[in-house]
Amino acid sequence: MPCPLRPLALILALSLAVASAKTLTGRQVFDQTCHVCHSHGVAGAPKVGDRSAWREHLDKGLKILYAHAIHGYYGYSFMPPKGGNESLTDSEVRAAVRYMVATVSAKARRTLDPHQ
Ligand code: HEC
Repeated sequence: MPCPLRPLALILALSLAVASAKTLTGRQVFDQTCHVCHSHGVAGAPKVGDRSAWREHLDKGLKILYAHAIHGYYGYSFMPPKGGNESLTDSEVRAAVRYMVATVSAKARRTLDPHQ
């Protein structure tokens, strides 16, 4: 006789899978992955809230910053692709970039939504 709980278990497993696939906000991605280096400037990473550290990065424009955060980048130091967390989607990484940029730029705070 088939187990009557089987369909229920399947529904539970599916809903868990959907819940874990939920998109993270920029802040969540930062707290989970980027903060390791970008909170304290580890390995020369520009710190959140530190305008002078971010100036030369901001000058490149958001498109380049997105690309470097997603694919990794060697400058004066090394930014690993997706901060080393391959499970992040490109749009989650972009949201985290907007979150960090908004900590150092009043213009970005007005025009970017870090929760997107
Ligand atoms: C292992 C440490 C580390 C982690 C984790 C990390 N970064 Fe970085 N990041 C760096 C370093 C170091 C630099 C400076 C690289 C350079 O300019 O040479 C950098 C630079 C950047 C830049 C500027 C790139 C540019 O072109 O100027 C962005 C944007 C960035 N990181 C975004 C992120 C995001 C988003 C995350 C989380 C998903 C993240 N980083 C996680 C170390 C890290």
